[in-house]
Amino acid sequence: MSFIIIAIDGPSGVGKSTIARKLAAELSYLYVDTGAMFRCLAWRWQQLDCPEDDDALRNLGLQTRIKMASNQIWCNSTEVTELIRSEQVSTLSSQISKFPVIRDIMKQKQRELIEDVRNSGSFSGAVLEGRDIGTVIFPNADIKFFVDADPEIRAQRRFDQLRQKGEEVEFDIILEALRERDAKDRNRSIAPLVPAEDSILVDTSNMEEQQVLNNMLQHICLLYTSD
Ligand code: DC
Repeated sequence: MSFIIIAIDGPSGVGKSTIARKLAAELSYLYVDTGAMFRCLAWRWQQLDCPEDDDALRNLGLQTRIKMASNQIWCNSTEVTELIRSEQVSTLSSQISKFPVIRDIMKQKQRELIEDVRNSGSFSGAVLEGRDIGTVIFPNADIKFFVDADPEIRAQRRFDQLRQKGEEVEFDIILEALRERDAKDRNRSIAPLVPAEDSILVDTSNMEEQQVLNNMLQHICLLYTSD
């Protein structure tokens, strides 16, 4: 069987990252968090005072080296694993992701990453999570999931996560920021967050994580047996 690509798209706070990471571990596939890649760019963008002209954005995109290994994320020579998870970087990552020049560079980087891994033979497949994996980055992915959940439930999960980390946050502000980010992600003109026509919809609002995983694994098993 050839290199398998599993695309997991959906809005923030649906539990995509945890699910995608566990799925990849279960299958011994590479896990790629494309949101973290946009967050790295946003983190550096902030340090440059958020320029919006094409040249500055292109330089930023091309000069940002992102490394993800052993649950750590490195941006150029700084370890940014936690730094890129702040509310401010969340907002900026949604803003920077609307620029066509940034999306083009990210598309290229994500495809190259998978090509390198495929050629190296180190993994027999990859689980990529993001917003446009099944629609733009890998429209021919072997299997596509679109994961969604009610905004209130997603905001509550985000609120709990931030509180656990000791951040002082208010639920209403988190919910509003999430709705705003959703609207930006879903309505941008390039690569908006929409389910691919051939994606499998998974609503995690009332599902435990293990149920979601089992559901996805069943679909993936079918893929193997139909080969
Ligand atoms: O998945 P996340 O919340 O960490 O992603 C952060 C932001 O990056 C999100 O608001 C939109 C953007 N993003 C994107 O536009 N395309 C992707 N494939 C992944 C993330």
